Amino acid sequence: MTYDFDRVVERTGTDSSKWDGLKTRFGVDAAIPMWVADMDFPSPQPVIDALTRRAEHGVYGYTLRADAYYQAIEGWMQKRHQWNVERDWLMHSPGVVSAIAMIVDSYTQPGDKVLVQPPVYYPFMRVVNNLDRQIVNNPLKYENGTYNMDFEDLADKLDDPDVKLLILCSPHNPVGRVWTREELTHLGNLCLEKGVLVVSDEIHSDLVYKMYTHVPFASISNEFADNSLTCIAPSKTFNLAGLQTSVVIIPNEDLREKYKKTLGRYSLGGANIFGTAALTAAYTHGEEWLDQLLDYLEGNLALVTAYMEHNIPAVKVVQPQGTYLVWLDFQELGLDNEALDQFVLHKAGIALDEGHIFGPGGEGFQRINIACPRSVLVKALDQLALAVREFSNQ
Ligand SMILES: Cc1ncc(COP(=O)(O)O)c(C=O)c1O
Repeated sequence: MTYDFDRVVERTGTDSSKWDGLKTRFGVDAAIPMWVADMDFPSPQPVIDALTRRAEHGVYGYTLRADAYYQAIEGWMQKRHQWNVERDWLMHSPGVVSAIAMIVDSYTQPGDKVLVQPPVYYPFMRVVNNLDRQIVNNPLKYENGTYNMDFEDLADKLDDPDVKLLILCSPHNPVGRVWTREELTHLGNLCLEKGVLVVSDEIHSDLVYKMYTHVPFASISNEFADNSLTCIAPSKTFNLAGLQTSVVIIPNEDLREKYKKTLGRYSLGGANIFGTAALTAAYTHGEEWLDQLLDYLEGNLALVTAYMEHNIPAVKVVQPQGTYLVWLDFQELGLDNEALDQFVLHKAGIALDEGHIFGPGGEGFQRINIACPRSVLVKALDQLALAVREFSNQ
């Protein structure tokens, strides 16, 4: 079937974090919300049908994960990512952030150091700090409008024997890089050499633009598989974040046993009856929708790029290779963090994630979510263009 991504679905009044949480997060009643990383599109019809069938049954008791659930994950990883994952490797978590918290908890001790590559998804830092571990930054390099890993600095940082874990964001939120096999191999070899475990957050791995290919970190070699845990979920791909159902792939048996223990400690091994049904339907029947979504997102990205070039040349688009999140470079406006945040929110009337919350290197940037109907995107861009014009004429 053909999906209509142009259709505007009202989300206000549905307890949506992105829409109904505006006042709490930004202190405003109205602004176009383009911050939280979920989409303003309905999920694929087969998912809606599966959830409707489940809801109509009316009995919502404890549930198990059926064969179809595991087959759906195995099939999806094989079909979309050419990675044969074994059923035994598949562990669970309500969300990817909670999985990362359990991973930090399982494989490091208070006081240990955990490496991240900022600017990066800020809950990584929150999780590490909350568990009394220390963050070590290996900042990405911003060169000619794109981001690269700084391997020299990475090797230095990994030399510290207190660094026990590296959190890899692949594809990277917010800069949109889809890491190449060569980059991942370089990083993976350094981690093996220095005895540092890798958790690869691949939640955005299905959302990659045509010219690029996501390579699952653990699929590169048996050694990498043995030294890593991979987090995936249907939540970003099919807009199911509210169903709290994620998967942790752990090929190494010892690591798996430890993770299982942590799950048991917090009694988090159970399944969500709707999340399981949605995951199964999405990974089994969601491909047609996803391919159409990716075309639509590619169109939105082309629109943002052309619009900014023509109408707001002072703000640069960092071209994402994956994710529906676009990292905007406002540095030319010369505003400090507070002034830039206020400008975007109050002058342009759009609610974005502020660059500085993503850690070092985020200052002067803002992250916009383009997973919305094109009419909403155009309205936001028009508001931003007007605000920048007024600012430049001051
Ligand atoms: C890189 C990354 N990891 C994890 C998450 C959130 O995952 P969850 O909602 O499953 O905790 C996000 C959401 O934006 C993300 O961008």
